[in-house]
Amino acid sequence: MSESSVKTIYLKDYQAPAFELEQVKLTFRLFEDGATVLSVLNFKRCSDKNEQALYLHGEDLELRAIKINDQELSEEDYQLDSEGMTIPYVPAEFVLTCETWIKPQDNKRLEGLYKSSSMFCTQCEAEGFRRITFYPDRPDVMTVFQTCIEADKNLYPVLLSNGNPIESGDLSDGRHFVTWEDPFPKPCYLFALVAGDLYCQEGIFETCSGRKVDLRIFVDHKNANKCDYALDSLKRSMKWDEEVYGREYDLDIFMIVAVDDFNMGAMENKGLNIFNSSCVLANTQTATDMAYQRIEAIVAHEYFHNWSGNRVTCRDWFQLSLKEGFTVFRDAEFSADMNSRVVKRIEDVNFLRTAQFAEDAGPMSHPVRPASYMEISNFYTLTVYEKGAELVRMLHTLLGEAQFRAGSDLYFDRHDGQAVTTEDFVIAMSEVSGRDFSQFQNWYDQGGTPEVKVSSSYDADKKQYSLTFTQSCPIGVADSGEKQAFHIPITLGLIGGNGEDLPLSIADGQSSWVFELVDETETVTFEGVDSEPTPSLLRNFSAPVKLSYDYSDEQLLFLMAHDSDGFNRWEAGQTLSLRVLQTLIQQYQNKETLVLPERFIEVFRSIVLNKELDKAIVCKLLMLPAESYLIELSEEADVDAIHHSREFVRAELSTALRGELEALYYANANVNINTSTGLDFVAMSQRALKNMALSLLSASPNKQAVILAKQQFSTATNMTDSHAALSVLVNSGDDSAAHAALSEFYDKWHEDAQVLEQWFSVQSASASLTDLEGLKKLIALPDFELSNPNKVRSVIGAFCQQNLVSFHHESGDAYALLAEYIIKLDDLNPQIASRLMMPLTRWRKFNTNRQALMLAQLKRIHGKDNLSKDVREVVEKSLP
Ligand code: BES
Ligand code: ZN
Repeated sequence: MSESSVKTIYLKDYQAPAFELEQVKLTFRLFEDGATVLSVLNFKRCSDKNEQALYLHGEDLELRAIKINDQELSEEDYQLDSEGMTIPYVPAEFVLTCETWIKPQDNKRLEGLYKSSSMFCTQCEAEGFRRITFYPDRPDVMTVFQTCIEADKNLYPVLLSNGNPIESGDLSDGRHFVTWEDPFPKPCYLFALVAGDLYCQEGIFETCSGRKVDLRIFVDHKNANKCDYALDSLKRSMKWDEEVYGREYDLDIFMIVAVDDFNMGAMENKGLNIFNSSCVLANTQTATDMAYQRIEAIVAHEYFHNWSGNRVTCRDWFQLSLKEGFTVFRDAEFSADMNSRVVKRIEDVNFLRTAQFAEDAGPMSHPVRPASYMEISNFYTLTVYEKGAELVRMLHTLLGEAQFRAGSDLYFDRHDGQAVTTEDFVIAMSEVSGRDFSQFQNWYDQGGTPEVKVSSSYDADKKQYSLTFTQSCPIGVADSGEKQAFHIPITLGLIGGNGEDLPLSIADGQSSWVFELVDETETVTFEGVDSEPTPSLLRNFSAPVKLSYDYSDEQLLFLMAHDSDGFNRWEAGQTLSLRVLQTLIQQYQNKETLVLPERFIEVFRSIVLNKELDKAIVCKLLMLPAESYLIELSEEADVDAIHHSREFVRAELSTALRGELEALYYANANVNINTSTGLDFVAMSQRALKNMALSLLSASPNKQAVILAKQQFSTATNMTDSHAALSVLVNSGDDSAAHAALSEFYDKWHEDAQVLEQWFSVQSASASLTDLEGLKKLIALPDFELSNPNKVRSVIGAFCQQNLVSFHHESGDAYALLAEYIIKLDDLNPQIASRLMMPLTRWRKFNTNRQALMLAQLKRIHGKDNLSKDVREVVEKSLP
């Protein structure tokens, strides 16, 4: 594809469809060498349009027959190009019948209809349906689908699609069919089909109005013992959405199918969610606690889309955050309610600041609602998802629980069955509250991370305390022109000398107040303040901004001990750790001896010894800022200095706190997973804390930790403990211990795809894998398949994103290896190729030597023939 033929799509060019679809009937005939798709589409020209021509999307389809009403079309009656078909003259109302032949067996892009292991499945979001048949593949064309699937009965006893089964029966030649009908109008991106020989785990959910819904989880027979947790998570999600949002499920069946080859985590197809196996399958032997929590969150997320996405959908793909941002907010609140609110918030903010802030500072930076794109698959980003969820959270903070719920009720009620925009969502929130959110819209349309500088002054005579806030937003490489001020909710409190929140004069004596910063600079004054307080700012991270205030170390320690906001207690600790790390990084760069302040060790000692706090919180407090976050905060990131300084801190803490850490380890060692509470948050927190202690212990060069890890590895009764021990051994520097554990683990688990992914990523993410030979050995194993996205992510992805010293080795060899695989994958699976590009897009963060090496690889990729739209967009935006 030549450069000029890749066109950019602009939001401002949006036009409503000229034709609506009254109904769709599809018949799939599945064979071992391909599939025929018969479609019958009832079109009707929209009353306010007079277009004569009909445009249908269609890619890589073999057209076998097409007719309008009873009239066969000949080749002069339509024009085909690489992206679709134009029929120049069509009547106002007509039936289009079309037959296409497709090859699911050859489909390695995993978009449209494809085969994964021995089953047929689909992935249509965002624009995959056009790889199944000719169709107006856009989310604002909604209609009711009837789908008939025919296939060999032995090979594919299970035939599934959206909605309810209405007919089934046997055909000749050992074939059979099932017909499904989905009564809810939907865009084609929510269409799904599955055919295979699958085990079905059934459950039942009684809705708030007393209807019984059949729940079914379909998996490969060998995974029959891995469905319980997903099924339970689904029931909890359904209940929660009724209780918190008043949303009842609408069909009589809800199905989940697990597939091994999947580009994303999971997909919310109406009534038939399709999941990446790694995001649904679990049992205590094979899944880590992290995997369990992820499964609970993803099952919830996809289920919640039934309302936020399916019943009310997006007008066009620029509105993606309308469904994704809102649904991420909903799943985060669900996880907070099921587990710990503060811990969930800490995890999400940590992720946002590390990954989304970096995205927003790089060449792919874009607003939550982008103004343009070349390939929509490139815009399923942290900005659309994570920052988008923060925008919904800010509306929630501004309105409070009750008004937010009223706004969401109005939104769902008013727009049920429609395809709408992010404005429609904000307008509903505005109408129920009478609040003006016109300035708030800037959050949707302006990219970049706003910065808020805060200063304070205290007047002892007047007993007045003032805070001055100044906002700005950097202009990024992808930006044009000045930015307008944001409407920023800043939740804050003032803490008195006794550690207690002061009643705030400005907030009728309440201790926390949402200050709304709307101008560039604003000052607020608090009256009746007897002595200078310590401000607690941006509580619960009330806005996705970089806030700075010049705290003294003493104030940070004070906040860590006393802030009534759990998030800010953690935040104070992080700020303190960052200061220490940044000083050490400088010392390392200046070739000075590194010294860890005694006081810092004492802070950690008191955390380790703390018996009052939740164990999960203690775990978060013991977590040092990640290398990737330190990179994101650097002007010019020195990866080696960052890695060594951080490892130095871990080693010093390990040596100084050895006794305390061992005690912590043993105090939390015995938690049995095979009891009714074995998977509760408390049990998970206990395992997490024990393994955090083990990991810290192993940071100093003492044999004791290796012995402990070996012991844990051989006696573990669950995957969390076994995986944690393996990770410690792999990172221990004790090669023989590492090899022994790795081969034992492999022998035991290599037939289990989910565990094997863990085995791969433990190695590729480990800094002990210092040379590329180790990585190449993993890639060369027969267990590694380039066509399986999970394998690519757990080997190449984990290496590039987590093993940062090795990836950024100054030879540039790892950059070249990454480029080689991006080029290979570009012909196979462009979405995965494009996602792997991310580390190379961050070249501006590194020294000139590394910049040159990364740029050389970007140019090499750019030079590939037939570069996909996906990769092309990212490369061209990344090159200077
Ligand atoms: N709708 C998406 C899945 C999707 C996105 C499919 C893009 C195809 C292209 C789904 O709802 C989703 O957001 N999944 C996330 C997980 C979720 C918990 C954030 C995913 O797959 O990573
Ligand atoms: Zn989603």
